[in-house]
Amino acid sequence: MNQIIKGFSKLTRDEKIEVLSKHFHFPKHFCEILETYRHPTRQELFDDFAENTLSNFYLPFGVAPNFLIDNKMYVVPMVVEESSVVAASSRAASFWADNGGFKTTIHNTLKKGQIWFKWNGPKSFFSDMPTGLEEMLREAVAPLTTNMEMRGGGIRSMEVIPLKGQYGIFQLQVNFETVDSMGANFINSCLEEMKEPLLKFFNTNQDFKQYGNTQIIMAILSNFTTECLATSTVECPIDALEVISAGMKPVEFAQKLKQATDIALADTSRAVTHNKGIFNGIDAVVIATGNDFRAVEAAGHAWAAKDGFYRSLSRCEITENSTFKMEVTLPLALGTVGGLTRLHPMAALSLELLGNPSAPQLMGIAAAAGLANNFSAVASLVTTGIQKGHMKLHLSNLLNSLNATSEEKEAAMGYFKNRTVSALGVKKFLRREE
Ligand code: MEV
Repeated sequence: MNQIIKGFSKLTRDEKIEVLSKHFHFPKHFCEILETYRHPTRQELFDDFAENTLSNFYLPFGVAPNFLIDNKMYVVPMVVEESSVVAASSRAASFWADNGGFKTTIHNTLKKGQIWFKWNGPKSFFSDMPTGLEEMLREAVAPLTTNMEMRGGGIRSMEVIPLKGQYGIFQLQVNFETVDSMGANFINSCLEEMKEPLLKFFNTNQDFKQYGNTQIIMAILSNFTTECLATSTVECPIDALEVISAGMKPVEFAQKLKQATDIALADTSRAVTHNKGIFNGIDAVVIATGNDFRAVEAAGHAWAAKDGFYRSLSRCEITENSTFKMEVTLPLALGTVGGLTRLHPMAALSLELLGNPSAPQLMGIAAAAGLANNFSAVASLVTTGIQKGHMKLHLSNLLNSLNATSEEKEAAMGYFKNRTVSALGVKKFLRREE
């Protein structure tokens, strides 16, 4: 039935479920499952995070210990459903903790917003900001920026930029410092507040008006946060790699790690998977700390394509004095105040676990987690392959999906200790195959 449900968001939760059940003939267990995953005491808080909340969606909250980052030891919280991610992170963290740890550099923390407008005049008008415009706009948003300025942030600069290849379309780019907040709401509020005064400025100023009226198209932050960049690096003497090289000679292992990374720098199909391995670590931290993983992903992938084609976000180097080096650099617009960061009890807990870091510190931690996962993944790929470890960790998922009892699980764990895990193999072992 393709019937439209009108006014759904206005209904109470019970009414929503009733309407859905009627329209789609939901089975009885639908309601039971929704009920099971509701929080017994704090559900109202979760209901308010988003519209039409019916229940909660659980994901594992795990930790990767032994992360030595800028000489400080962290236990890194990770929220991720893929069985091997926390293990991969922990493995790399332990190795690098013995070898100097992760070093991080935060290049900048600026973010930008754009007000797009149509104006039919020449772009030469904007080689400098029109006199008085910036002051007037700053004044118009002063009630919004005062607080941020007290925290050391605010509007840093503005410029008008023509849209490449199209006459008569421009953006006012506003550069913001949002200190420890990701700042999306702050930036968007400022931009929207600027629309009216910007329009008035152009439409009442004879120099601009002679080319006709200006029209605002839209105002929104840019998630391409190229001025909010973090780098994480690791390095060690090649010989130190022996403990993690799965029997391979350390020098051969280092060369293979470099070859694999160089391939991801040159080949987009490989680069996407290689970067997925980096985001395994980054997203898990970003989600655990209540940050916006869609924004981080969008910026990261655009950054990966900044040279004109999509390539690896990490690089590997072997120096003449036999040092192995690896680094990752990417935009990471993260916050440690605002948004859900303090409101979501588990995000607040994650930040506490990390010692309540500043936004730049959190950027460094996320970048280190990305590099850790990347190092671990590529180390497995060039030695044993990933499936052995991955399937071992996935064994419990297979057992659960086959409703194995605790006795069966224990027996299976023993049986598959030194055997290859596969869905069919587990089915056979449990005698579940038809
Ligand atoms: C799996 O989640 C991630 C990897 O595919 C990353 C990679 O190939 O580098 C192992």
